[in-house]
Amino acid sequence: MELVHLTQFEKRKKADLLVLPFWKGASRPEEATTYKLQIPLLTAVLKMGDFQGKEGEVLFLYAEGQAESRIALLGLGPKDKMTLESLRKSYGALSKACLAKKFKTLNVAVPLSDRLTDQERMAGVAEGLLLPNYVYDRLKSPNPEDADEAILLQKVTFISDDKNALEHAEEVAAICDGVDYARDLINGNADEVTPQYLAQCAHGLAKEHKQIKTTVFDKKRIEKEEMGLLLAVNRGSALEPAFIIMEYKGNPKSSDHTVIIGKGITYDTGGLNIKPTGGMETMKCDMSGAAACFGTLLAVCNLGLKVNLTAVIPATENSVDANSFKPGDVYRSYLGKTVEMMNSDAEGRLVLADALAYACQKLKPTRIIDLATLTGAIEISLGSEASGIMSTDDGLANALMEAGEQTFERLWRMPLYDEYKERLKSDIADFKSWNGRSASSCVAATFLKFFVEDTIPWAHLDIAGTAYVTEPKKYMPKYASGVGVRLLVEFLKRLPVSKRS
Ligand code: BES
Ligand code: ZN
Ligand code: ZN
Repeated sequence: MELVHLTQFEKRKKADLLVLPFWKGASRPEEATTYKLQIPLLTAVLKMGDFQGKEGEVLFLYAEGQAESRIALLGLGPKDKMTLESLRKSYGALSKACLAKKFKTLNVAVPLSDRLTDQERMAGVAEGLLLPNYVYDRLKSPNPEDADEAILLQKVTFISDDKNALEHAEEVAAICDGVDYARDLINGNADEVTPQYLAQCAHGLAKEHKQIKTTVFDKKRIEKEEMGLLLAVNRGSALEPAFIIMEYKGNPKSSDHTVIIGKGITYDTGGLNIKPTGGMETMKCDMSGAAACFGTLLAVCNLGLKVNLTAVIPATENSVDANSFKPGDVYRSYLGKTVEMMNSDAEGRLVLADALAYACQKLKPTRIIDLATLTGAIEISLGSEASGIMSTDDGLANALMEAGEQTFERLWRMPLYDEYKERLKSDIADFKSWNGRSASSCVAATFLKFFVEDTIPWAHLDIAGTAYVTEPKKYMPKYASGVGVRLLVEFLKRLPVSKRS
């Protein structure tokens, strides 16, 4: 996508559409820019009340004598209620309307604001335009007669007095590239996006970006490392597991080091406790945590953030086979603790347990954040409006929640009560993996906590309700959302260490 910046409204070049923003005023819509168009149609429309300037309201007009053959009036809602999120929603509505009409080139007037910083204002406009501008149609045959065939935006010219407008927009575009990378990995067929495919992607990132170093443990190495829980989950799969480590050193002089861990179950059948019809069809999304790590790393690299970041991905399918691990059997983890396997569908916590223990022992992390489509129960609790966060550290949890508010990838904190540990007591092993449906998101997080060193701040993000949604929402396309990427990039940008050089 080509992004351009113009300071002079009169110097607009030809485009499919001019976008003019309006606030909802008391009696009539109020111009949200100083740019004036002298066309009779516009005066009439604004007077007649057909367009009121409500948030996300879009009205197309057709006028001659302009650089563009069409004009969109875009409603932003009341001026005193304009926020970063309301801008995303308004420009998101516009972006979706353009997608439906197959417009490719836009001239976009950026609204004035005395409530938002220049950067926030551009972020709202650009995220609103770019986040819905995505379609996964690789698996569709090309058909020129298909009226539904998606045409994406190709060029956006921002018209604004802000001399840094382009810089802000390009930053958003770099982050959105990470979001789209995550979405592509999630939306791809599970038979294509395998542990080996993820390993190739990791090598690919290292090849393209000098600051990234990739290490992949194959099955032999995973056996040598005695990652017994990852190996147990892998038993039912025809594909070997992969344990992927990607290191980004943006601040070599600093010892500050964030480790992110992504659940990389490339397909979750449930194992011998097989999922029923209706529960399995979306399970290619069970590597969304891993995808968020890939997207974050790409965005961080594109932005050149001065942080040290390592992504760890335990990757395998959870499949059904004569060789599948058996509920009731006991396996030994990387940490050395033994686990009584209760339900083979509780596989995410097993692979994460080995990754968490490995990260603590080998990677010298300042903090660890894991992202996982871990429990169906988190969707029952929070829907797709927020991901769950469980954390041993208030500072880390608060920083993540603040990044969540800013990006609107919101997080809601759930407890890690000591009492939950009782439920994971086993007669024959050190822990049980699962104990029924009660408080299952919190008990799953409590299981993970056993594998994290007490002294290392840790947060677990359960994204099972937010990573993959079957309905389009606001400025989000349906299916893979790419959740986690914008959140983590914002969190990393806010680390004090990211600003030092
Ligand atoms: N991958 C699922 C969780 C999930 C559910 C992700 C819905 C995305 C959407 C996880 O491995 C799982 O199966 N969890 C079970 C746990 C239980 C059966 C032990 C669950 O939450 O139902
Ligand atoms: Zn499962
Ligand atoms: Zn799963």
